[in-house]
Amino acid sequence: MSEARPLAAIILAAGLGTRMRSGKAKVLHEIGGEPMIARALRAIAELKPDLIITVVGHQAEAVAETVRHAVPNHALRFAVQSAQRGTGDAARTGLGQLPADFDGDILIGYGDTPRLNPSTLMSFREAHHHDSGGLAFISTEVANPDGYGRVVRNGSGAIERIVEHRDASAVERTIREINTGIYLAEARLLREALAALTDDNVQREFYLTDIVAIAYRRGARINAWRAPNPAEFEGINTREELGRMNQELRNQRIRALMDAGVTFIDPATAYIGDTVNIGADTTIGPNVQILGNSRIGSGVMIEGTAWLREVTVGDRCHLKICVRAEECTIGDDSEIGPFANLRAGTELAGHNRIGNFVETKKTRIGRGSKASHLSYLGDAVIGSETNIGCGVITVNYDGYDKHVTAIGDRCMVGCDTQLVAPVTVGSDVYIASGTTILKDVQDGALALSHHPQDEKPGWTAGWRRRHKDHPQSAKIPGAK
Ligand code: UD1
Ligand code: CA
Repeated sequence: MSEARPLAAIILAAGLGTRMRSGKAKVLHEIGGEPMIARALRAIAELKPDLIITVVGHQAEAVAETVRHAVPNHALRFAVQSAQRGTGDAARTGLGQLPADFDGDILIGYGDTPRLNPSTLMSFREAHHHDSGGLAFISTEVANPDGYGRVVRNGSGAIERIVEHRDASAVERTIREINTGIYLAEARLLREALAALTDDNVQREFYLTDIVAIAYRRGARINAWRAPNPAEFEGINTREELGRMNQELRNQRIRALMDAGVTFIDPATAYIGDTVNIGADTTIGPNVQILGNSRIGSGVMIEGTAWLREVTVGDRCHLKICVRAEECTIGDDSEIGPFANLRAGTELAGHNRIGNFVETKKTRIGRGSKASHLSYLGDAVIGSETNIGCGVITVNYDGYDKHVTAIGDRCMVGCDTQLVAPVTVGSDVYIASGTTILKDVQDGALALSHHPQDEKPGWTAGWRRRHKDHPQSAKIPGAK
């Protein structure tokens, strides 16, 4: 293999995708819980291109943002194709973002091929190196080539051109070797060929596929690398295809996870994103969605009905039924739920317990601390081994700004306490139930804000007597 030449990638993603019948650009529709372009890009990024240029058009900014998020560690550029005049025009637009002195290979692909396998791309690129230069593209044989561009070869088997389905003759339509739409070309050749494109075809578009015939006429070396698995290049054009591919990828992902030691109680109702990692001996109950770059440790039990996105869950955690968690970290050996809502910025150090109807947001909780029932903990920093009683509320919002509540280690925060932030409670503090904390509390103190309890002996009997003629009286226990 020759040593790696510079590589740039151009991804075509300007189309709306009319057949999706959507206001949303096609490449933003989701596969496995993320926009389909993210998957196509990650596959291409594995080739480590020196520059990735994405051609955007419909919802350009949203598509660009998705790209930046999908491949954050790559040099990226964006080219805006304002009118969709064909794949050739799109590639030409993309080329405009390539430095004029770039002298290497250019890979062209689409944003709507989410099943693309990085290893396939690598094999293709390696083969192209062996062939040294010229123009190469990936072809594949399909049973039903309808709609695809066909690879037309001459008498001696050499590739002459690609003909689009709509422009193909009856004989050409019987060809089952199709163009997948992935090309690798020497920059110089590609520049020349794209400049020579015309829109002389049924759709009056600039076809990228015509670069093949142009290269052929110039005597350039042309190769089709036949990919063994056509399914990888399936583009998404309709919602039905989107649904089907989602299902296939989902099944594939779950099979791989089962092979890696994960138990699924009901695989049919588990939705695990492609970039999710799950450790061995973890059990996933029914109706669970795990999305984004989530990491679930080993020996974890997720009972069921959970929605988890961008979460890290440590080993041996137990997520009881109905947990929603987003952008947060749950340390080892923690017990969450049932019915817990862990919002962005929640960080649990480990051995924690977050019980039913507890909501946390931007809150760090030290090792071993617990909030077992009915609490709101927002913008808080809580130490270790602290117990947050039932119904405790951090009063974090004054209508304009959010404020921080800090609570130290080994505290007992009594039930129904409100902590009006900004406020700091030291360590080893005992807060009596029902207290409203307005000022800082020093280490080791008892804080309480009770009104003295008043008592009126015999009051109840008098109250009932005063109501004895009330229409409800007969129904009041003890009122007769
Ligand atoms: C294309 C190929 C066809 C191949 C098929 C494989 C051409 C002319 N045809 O057809 O040979 O078999 O892919 O799937 O290239 N795009 C733009 N700007 C445009 C037009 C398209 O960015 O002006 C983007 C689309 O958003 C899409 C991609 O290019 O991601 C492919 O375009 P599409 O119209 O789907 O091409 P096909 O008709 O599928
Ligand atoms: Ca297509």
